[in-house]
Amino acid sequence: MSDWIELERRCLACQKCALADTRTNVVFGKGPRDARIVFIGEGPGENEDLRGEPFVGRGGQLLDEMLSLIGLSREKNFYITNIVKCRPPQNRDPLNTEQDACVGYLWEQLELLRPRVVVCLGRIAAMRLIKPDYRITKEHGQWVERDGVFYTAIYHPAALLRDPSKKPDTFADLRSIRAKLRALCPEVYS
Ligand code: URA
Ligand code: SF4
Repeated sequence: MSDWIELERRCLACQKCALADTRTNVVFGKGPRDARIVFIGEGPGENEDLRGEPFVGRGGQLLDEMLSLIGLSREKNFYITNIVKCRPPQNRDPLNTEQDACVGYLWEQLELLRPRVVVCLGRIAAMRLIKPDYRITKEHGQWVERDGVFYTAIYHPAALLRDPSKKPDTFADLRSIRAKLRALCPEVYS
């Protein structure tokens, strides 16, 4: 626990990139620190910046509703955070230099959490965590194993709000995530 406190303190005071100048709050992450599954977005939006919590706008609401259908909640059993912890102005994609500056915090979070399953929310997170040429339309829902950790990506909830015809694919991916959790860490559902 002391490691978490020290990490969060360091992150909340961070000035390593220019996003520090325009943020209201650093958005560190949310969820139980013994979670077996972690969801990772690209970076905070306006609501997240104002509240200091990840995925609390319309997209976040949709995500929570969908995840509750497979028995997951940020109160009980998943952790959620972003590649960059401060909001990019006008919600632009985080620059590679900003991601490089920030992603170390994510690695430290993952080292402390030691999840079995990592789900990227959208292309930006998947390009950083799965492979640089990740194609979300083609490759969402596919699994990659690395050192006993299973990685996948689903559409970003903002993409589902823009284009609801993507929802059936995402529900199929969520069923696959549930099956993976049941196989790897049944305690999530016990
Ligand atoms: N979009 C993201 O990628 N992350 C958030 O926290 C909110 C919106
Ligand atoms: Fe630091 Fe990350 Fe915020 Fe940049 S985005 S100031 S690296 S916490």
